Amino acid sequence: MTASGASIIISSIGTYTPERCVTNAQLPAHLETTDEWISSRTGIHQRYIAPDGQEASDMAVLAARSALQKAHLQPADIDLLVVATMSPDYPFPSTACLVQGKLGMRTVAAFDVHAACSGFIYALEVASRMMQSGAYRNALVIGAEKMSSVLDWEDRGTCVLFGDGAGAAVLSKSSTLGVGVIDCLLCSDGMRPELLYCPAGGSVQRADAEAIAQRANFLKMNGKEIFKVAVRLMADSAEQILARNGLTFADVDCVIPHQANVRIIDSLAKQAGIPREKFFVNIDRYANTSGASIPLALNEALEQGRIKSGNNILLVAFGGGLTWATSLVKWL
Ligand code: ACO
Repeated sequence: MTASGASIIISSIGTYTPERCVTNAQLPAHLETTDEWISSRTGIHQRYIAPDGQEASDMAVLAARSALQKAHLQPADIDLLVVATMSPDYPFPSTACLVQGKLGMRTVAAFDVHAACSGFIYALEVASRMMQSGAYRNALVIGAEKMSSVLDWEDRGTCVLFGDGAGAAVLSKSSTLGVGVIDCLLCSDGMRPELLYCPAGGSVQRADAEAIAQRANFLKMNGKEIFKVAVRLMADSAEQILARNGLTFADVDCVIPHQANVRIIDSLAKQAGIPREKFFVNIDRYANTSGASIPLALNEALEQGRIKSGNNILLVAFGGGLTWATSLVKWL
């Protein structure tokens, strides 16, 4: 609820994925991978890849335009813009500022949130809390990733897992009480940053010729180690957020999990004791789009009629940092 007593609701979602779809079979031959290896280990069948010249901000703008159109709003109606990305156009300025400019918005608050695959839920919490203050009318929360630009296309252990895309949510106020973004639980553990990181391009190592020769300017991931902790941490945080809102897993109508690996989602369903049918999964078509994965899945769940008015929706994500996050949303 806001200081004025209104709820903060997700009034629309818009998405964008690049035109070029790359199936597992179409991946470069030098990777020596197979459709069987990728699909059996991850559930991924294809991903969308943005061309040179189409950046995270461009995809964010297209997703935002779609969300604004669905909400019957103009860019001028937005007074807060938060972009979740780990593959920004530049190290600085923020991708949010680029989106603000490209959308022709007013000179409103615009900034990025960097929490890897948990970024969209982090951004949702930040924006909804700022709106609760009463100081903002409508916010745009966007997850936008050009993961293909940070991947090492010589490393088959990582490059086959990710895809590009963007999803945008318009947050607005509703006078209906007890609906919308009810609660978010954000967590982090920075003790093992190397589980998912980009060694060069920051202050530790410049992205100079030596770094490039070492391929240190690309994403590195210890997938096995992340897999081990992802399920437990997501299940624990989901249980915690439900408990502090007087709910149990039985009260959840639909779970929108981060789409990193279908086996992680299967294990999460098992551990939480939530029927697998309540989990929305579209990793088969998009792969892991990091910060864009939750809005891409939420949009499809809505389009397929999987979410109805009054439903309790659980958004749950896990990613580099490490970060993990859960949000409880009561759909209006
Ligand atoms: N094709 C064929 N073989 C491959 C491929 C490939 N694309 N990639 C790796 N292999 C080989 C390896 O070389 C290895 O071979 P070896 O046994 O001869 O050495 C073998 O397959 C096993 O490789 P592993 O990496 O051990 O495979 P694993 O079963 O652990 O699956 C995976 C890897 C899919 C990455 C899994 O660990 C996973 O999904 N982890 C979680 C990832 C995650 O959730 N990340 C966080 C979110 S992402 C974010 O925050 C941006």
